[in-house]
Amino acid sequence: MKIISVVGARPNFMKIAPFAKAVKAYNRQHLTENIEHLLVHTGQHYDDRMSKKFFEELGIPDADINLGVGSGTHAEQVGQTMILFEKVLKDEKPDWVVVVGDVNATLACSVTAKKEWIKCCHIEAGLRSGDLKMPEEINRLVTDRLSDLLLTPDRLSNENLYREGVPDSKIKFVGNIMIDTLESNRAKAADLDLWSIIECNLHEEKNISIKDRDSVSDKHIAVITLHRPSNVDTDEVLEPLVNFLVQDVCKTMPLLWPIHPRAEKRLKEFGFWQKILDIPNLILLKPLGYHAMLRLNMAARIMLTDSGGLQEECTVLGTPCLTLRWNTERPVTLREHGGASVLVGNSVERIRKEYLNLLTGVCKPLRPELWDGHTAERCLDAIINFKN
Ligand code: UD1
Repeated sequence: MKIISVVGARPNFMKIAPFAKAVKAYNRQHLTENIEHLLVHTGQHYDDRMSKKFFEELGIPDADINLGVGSGTHAEQVGQTMILFEKVLKDEKPDWVVVVGDVNATLACSVTAKKEWIKCCHIEAGLRSGDLKMPEEINRLVTDRLSDLLLTPDRLSNENLYREGVPDSKIKFVGNIMIDTLESNRAKAADLDLWSIIECNLHEEKNISIKDRDSVSDKHIAVITLHRPSNVDTDEVLEPLVNFLVQDVCKTMPLLWPIHPRAEKRLKEFGFWQKILDIPNLILLKPLGYHAMLRLNMAARIMLTDSGGLQEECTVLGTPCLTLRWNTERPVTLREHGGASVLVGNSVERIRKEYLNLLTGVCKPLRPELWDGHTAERCLDAIINFKN
C-alpha cells in the first residue's frame, strides 16, 4: 500500500507527526508488507519558526516533496497546490491521500486526489462551526464531502456528518490525534524553564528588564495568541482588543504574546505596534516551537486565543481559556461540555466579564473520550482495514 500524507501549515504538523510514527511502527512489525509512506509539504508555511522547527522538535521525517506554494490569496494557494499536487499524484500513483485539519492544503489536496480517483482519508473530520465566513469551514465541508474515510475526533463530529447524510460506513470515531503529540511531548515541555523560553524567543524589537524576570512564574502569567482574519484584519476590532490587553490584563499579570506573522503585520499597518512595545508587562515573543508553547500553556493562569488547537490543549491541561471567537467547531472543549473554554467573540465587554469570572473560578483537566494518545494507531488501522 502506498500512502501520501499532506501538510501545509503550522497546525498540520502536530497532527501528522503521530501518524508518520504509527506507519513507521507498523512497518517495523510487518517487514514483508511494508506501507510506502510519502510526505508532501505544500509550503504554505515556510518560515523556520512556522515549519522547520516543528519537524525537528516532533521528529517528523523531512518532506519527500515540497511544493513551495508560499503565501498568497486563498485562490492562489489552493490553485497552485492543486496544479503541483496533481503532478505528484500522476507520478506517484498512491492508493491513499491522507489530509489533516482544515487548512488550504487539506482542501486542495483532497479535491485533487478525488479528481484523480484516489482514495482520500480525512483525519479530524466532522468539525463544524457553521460559519461560512471562516475559510477553514469551507475547507472542512468540501474535504468531508469528498473523502472516502472520515476519521472523527469526537462523537459530536459523527453527528454533524450523519446530519449531512454521510453514511455510517465512511465514518470512524478515532479520537483526537493532536493529543497523541501532546502526550508524547508533555514531559519534555514540562522540563523547560519559563525564563529561558522568554530569553530565547523574545521579539527582537522588545526590551525586557530584570524586574520582569521576577514577575514571571507558573500560574502568574497570561498567554495570548491571535491570528484569525476576523480578529486581526480590521483596526475597529483589533484596537479595542489591544486596549483591553494593555489596560486590563497587563495590569493584573505579565502577558506573554507569541506573535503570528499575520498579527504582527496588521499591528504595524494599523499603528498599534509601538504601543505594544512600550507596555512593560507585555512580553512580545516570536512564534514559538511546540515544546515552548506547551510549556507556556502549562504555566498560564489564563489563555486568550482564537486558535482551535490551543482550545483543545487547554481542555486536556485544565488551563482556563477565553476563546476569542463567536463560534467554535470544537464544542467539546467548551465549559458547558465540561471543558476549559468560554466563547467570548471580540466584544471587549464580554471578554472582560468572562476574564474576571475565569480568574476566580476553578478549572479541572478534562479528557474527552479517546483523547488518549493512541489515535494515530486507530487512524492507520482504519485505513488498512477500509472496505469499499
Ligand atoms: C493558516 C490556516 C489557519 C491556521 C493558521 C495557523 C488556512 C486557510 N488557514 O492561516 O487555519 O489556523 O494557518 O497559523 O489555511 N506568513 C509568514 N511566514 C509563514 C507563513 C505565513 O510570514 O511561514 C505570513 C504571510 O504574511 C501570510 C500570513 O502570514 O500572508 C498569513 O499566512 P497564511 O498561510 O495565508 O494563513 P494563516 O493566517 O497562517
